[in-house]
Amino acid sequence: MEFPRKRMRRLRRSPQIREIIRETRIHPSDLIYPLFVSERLKRGELEEIGTMPGQYRYSVDDAVAEASRLEDMGLSSVLIFGMPAVKDELASSAHEPDGVVQRTVRRLKEETDLVVMTDVCLCQYTSHGHCGVVVDGEIVNDETLEIISRIALSHAEAGADVVAPSDMMDGRVAVIRKTLDDAGFQDTLIMSYAVKYASSFYAPFRDAVSSAPSFGDRKSYQMDPANLEEAVVEAELDLKEGADIIMVKPALPYLDVIRTLRDNFRAPIAAYNVSGEYSMLRAAISMGYLTDESIHEVLLSIKRAGAGLIISHFAPDVLEVI
Ligand code: PBG
Ligand code: ZN
Repeated sequence: MEFPRKRMRRLRRSPQIREIIRETRIHPSDLIYPLFVSERLKRGELEEIGTMPGQYRYSVDDAVAEASRLEDMGLSSVLIFGMPAVKDELASSAHEPDGVVQRTVRRLKEETDLVVMTDVCLCQYTSHGHCGVVVDGEIVNDETLEIISRIALSHAEAGADVVAPSDMMDGRVAVIRKTLDDAGFQDTLIMSYAVKYASSFYAPFRDAVSSAPSFGDRKSYQMDPANLEEAVVEAELDLKEGADIIMVKPALPYLDVIRTLRDNFRAPIAAYNVSGEYSMLRAAISMGYLTDESIHEVLLSIKRAGAGLIISHFAPDVLEVI
């Protein structure tokens, strides 16, 4: 070949040419914004989360106001996390018809056109902080399923479009699907945290919603960060059980997992750019080590890896630049 016939730099000549050649773009509808709603807070009492600068715990009123402000900026979806006033052994406050998540969902459905998603788990509501029922120091699977499906049903009854179980108990997607169908909620979607690793990157989140386990860890239910083959099995099981969307969590240290699922399954894939991923970048930016251009680049890497949906605390930052 005559030198240099093929010049790659031709493709990068101008902003306009780069724009038409670009393979991956983040669209506002790709983004899901997590909102922390606390039953203890009254209107106007926002609490900034110490380990997640720029993120807040909201009252129901303020969460709805923030969600609709972001909707005006182009946001399509929110994922609601609740912080109850009372906790007990069996997470009873998680499935009260008038619980903090249920009230928030009702208001969001009345006052916005957002796709309303809810995190379905026990850990913020249990006195021991585990995602399942504890018997003799063990997190027991099958006894947890009934509670998980009651929580999901109560969210669907409040009007949630999508319920997102994050507990990692076996068989939960099947039980939730059946419970929803039997109650007439065939149209409520399930986005399962199908591939959720036992990650150190959740630390700021546990601080944010006070959900750290009071004993032991989550390694008997969340996945070993070393495993990829197992991720394929988890995703396959959840899709068979009826999950509409499967999620990989965390995102950034698991881009290979996202890509592997993209190549193996024909289903929508979400990736959770978790609290620790948010806080490390936020910290680096506030120290001046990085600039906020890195935010878009990180989210782009998650999309390029194969995630069509990205749950991220950076959603408001990105909405401003795309
Ligand atoms: C628990 C739950 C966790 C997150 C969402 N739901 C983490 C955990 O296992 O403690 C993590 C979110 C984040 O770190 O941003 N069901
Ligand atoms: Zn949990």
